Amino acid sequence: MPVRLASVVATHEQRLSTGIGELDNVLGGGLVPGSLVLLGGSPGVGKSTLTTMALANLAAAGRRTLYVSAEESAAQIRLRAERLSVGDALAIPVVAETDLATVLATLEQERPDVCVVDSVQTLHSGELASASGSVAQVREVAGEIMRVAKSAGIAVLLVGHVTKDGALAGPRVLEHLVDCVLQFEGERERTYRTVRAVKNRFGSTNEAGVFEMRDDGLVEVLDASARFVAEATHAPGSVVLCAMEGARPLLVEVQALVHGSELEQPRRVAAGIDRNRLALVLAVLGRHAGIGLGHADVFVNVVGGIRIDEPGADLAVALAVASAARGRSLQSVAGSPLACFGELGLTGELRSVAHADRRLSEAAKFKLGQVLEPSRYRTLRAAVGAGLAGLDGRSTSDLQLTSA
Ligand code: TYD
Ligand code: MG
Repeated sequence: MPVRLASVVATHEQRLSTGIGELDNVLGGGLVPGSLVLLGGSPGVGKSTLTTMALANLAAAGRRTLYVSAEESAAQIRLRAERLSVGDALAIPVVAETDLATVLATLEQERPDVCVVDSVQTLHSGELASASGSVAQVREVAGEIMRVAKSAGIAVLLVGHVTKDGALAGPRVLEHLVDCVLQFEGERERTYRTVRAVKNRFGSTNEAGVFEMRDDGLVEVLDASARFVAEATHAPGSVVLCAMEGARPLLVEVQALVHGSELEQPRRVAAGIDRNRLALVLAVLGRHAGIGLGHADVFVNVVGGIRIDEPGADLAVALAVASAARGRSLQSVAGSPLACFGELGLTGELRSVAHADRRLSEAAKFKLGQVLEPSRYRTLRAAVGAGLAGLDGRSTSDLQLTSA
């Protein structure tokens, strides 16, 4: 019997705060009871650390928590917990167990408010013959946990491993099943990490948070732009990108190195941006801006281990490479570092990207006097020419700050 929407009772779910502002934001205001959140990230990025910190805060706030680890022993989890300086990590009950049936029985018996399952690929269901981590196993594990979580009102943080290139390989098959998918990005050796929502039934996917890995756990970085701008080198091959991390503007430094190759097939190495995107930018640079990289190795890096997954980064990559190839710094008339953003079209045109106003006000906030961007330059050739010649980019001093 269909019901008119007007007569459907919809209560606004009460949220459980993880005590980590950036994480709550990305979740859309905290964890929703009975929901399943998938946290994907590569090994070493800090998934266990972040989830343990969330439980530590929840435990300190009097919530019932449970940490299920199918990867580490209880002793290893304790050693990590001892390092953390937030909440009450030592109060978290842990279960080191790989058997799904045992975990489900524990969940039904303990009925915590919030549970972490670390990880979905290492739990194993005896019902299936296939190995842990196979698509069938991962589906079964997540499906069964979800069944119990919904019926008992447990908020579950499901940890999933992703491959190096950022794809939620095994967990990809779970994206339609879970309520929220968070991606934890960054590299083990680097300081900075970002968390962003790629799917969220209870909030927007525009939120992202920046963290720094310290000796006592992950710390939210609220002044990321300031740090990256202060560290920018201004040497040939360096440019500041006005990027968007979700709905938030973030200034990051993009660096490039171009060097004559001794290899048959020159190297094209990208860290922090997509490899295929780099290939496209190099092709457009060669074809439409007269900067052919022919037989040179090209390295591009987003400083700090930040990963930028948006087309607005194209122009920064192109300018950094052009500047490195020519051995000339990108000049701004004002003497401040040159900033930029914009997407490259295949015909060499610069295309506008979302949130130009927020990007420009972030640049203005950090006194970056000039921003090369699509409303100012129509083609890559023109922008490269202006950047290398120190011509007038868009001056932020005459901009009205729309959202400062
Ligand atoms: P971890 O959370 O175990 O990563 P994941 O579960 O995603 O594989 O931790 C990642 C790394 O962070 C690990 O190599 C050790 C380091 N680390 C710190 O630097 N500081 C800390 O306080 C903690 C707990 C870990
Ligand atoms: Mg781990």
